[in-house]
Amino acid sequence: MKPAPVIILIALLLITVAGTIIFFTGRKKNTHQPSIGPESKTTVKSEWLAPDTSLIPLTTEGDLIRFGRKLIANTSFYFGPAGIINHQANGMNCQNCHLDAGTRIFSNSFAAVASLYPQFRPRSGRIESIEFRVNECLERSLNGKKIDSNSTEMKSMVAYLKWVGKEVQKGSKPRGANTEELPFLNRQADTLKGSLIFQFRCQLCHGPDGQGVLAADKKSYTYPPLWGKHSYNTAAGLYRLTKLAGFIKYSMPFGTKYPTPQLTDEQIWNVAGFINSKQRPVKFFKYDWPALAAKPVDYPFGPYTDSFSERQHKYGPFGPIKKAKESSQKKT
Ligand code: HEC
Ligand code: HEC
Repeated sequence: MKPAPVIILIALLLITVAGTIIFFTGRKKNTHQPSIGPESKTTVKSEWLAPDTSLIPLTTEGDLIRFGRKLIANTSFYFGPAGIINHQANGMNCQNCHLDAGTRIFSNSFAAVASLYPQFRPRSGRIESIEFRVNECLERSLNGKKIDSNSTEMKSMVAYLKWVGKEVQKGSKPRGANTEELPFLNRQADTLKGSLIFQFRCQLCHGPDGQGVLAADKKSYTYPPLWGKHSYNTAAGLYRLTKLAGFIKYSMPFGTKYPTPQLTDEQIWNVAGFINSKQRPVKFFKYDWPALAAKPVDYPFGPYTDSFSERQHKYGPFGPIKKAKESSQKKT
């Protein structure tokens, strides 16, 4: 049976009226929100997008930038145990931890390097240049040796880092520039539960003993090691549980991206605890954390200004340490 044309007309009219009401009430709501002027642009933190590599200029400066990117993506080819420049680094690539050559937000991106360096950092207790910071990762994360600040290799990596962050306003840091800060657990990381997560979610690529998988050329890793003698050393950022957990959240298992983690925060803390409970190269820098009170809650080496054990500083719970820190800061 066909509906009468009048009914169709009435129905159309109703839809139009309803649509108009929805449209205007929606607009009205918007007027209650703060207007987006130049002021709010810095506070409404939009997500950072790295510049397009096809736009790197075809100049000598552009050549440096391109070479810097190669050094960061294929570090082991140049500095690995079988590197063509030297044999001092552990075989990992910068990109193993700074995903997509540092262009991926929440995966240790390089978004805020050009905009924030040189800057004071409490670990070294000094104002660090970009060159100093790169050498720190070479000595710690790559368990290698520093390179000369005037070398072509350093100049190239710095040129790339400056190029990649060139659109970020000086002094500012885009959202997700480094990694996520996970809410603390109210207990220590459970390394036994973590070992099961490792077995089911990580081992497939990183290997049953966490040693990674070498590529056919034996010069680089297809899957980098998570512990052992070719892994980051005890002075590296990832040896701090908050940094390792923060990285895993939006980066691992491989393919994971912001904003969709594949593991719960609890699983992440546990697997991070398990990884950092394993053996790795031991390295100390005498100049680290010259102000004891500035040591982060998860820095696992004393002495401390608080009375918590090294074990608690390594595996948590970090909440009580943070609380004690805050109340002692209030007193002084
Ligand atoms: C094992 C993992 C790992 C490797 C490999 C690694 N890094 Fe890092 N890097 C980190 C971590 C973790 C941080 C600290 C991020 C933070 O503070 O949240 C960091 C920080 C940095 C920063 C400072 C970023 C900022 O926003 O302050 C630079 C620059 C950097 N790395 C460069 C390099 C370069 C160049 C290489 C290779 C020569 C390299 N890294 C290799 C883990 C790594
Ligand atoms: C599908 C393979 C795959 C799985 C599964 C996987 N990873 Fe990875 N992982 C990689 C690759 C590949 C890299 C290096 C990324 C790059 O170079 O782009 C990496 C890098 C890492 C790194 C930084 C570099 C290093 O070796 O220290 C950590 C830490 C890490 N993975 C932890 C984990 C954890 C924890 C899990 C399990 C929850 C996991 N991964 C599961 C492939 C995988």
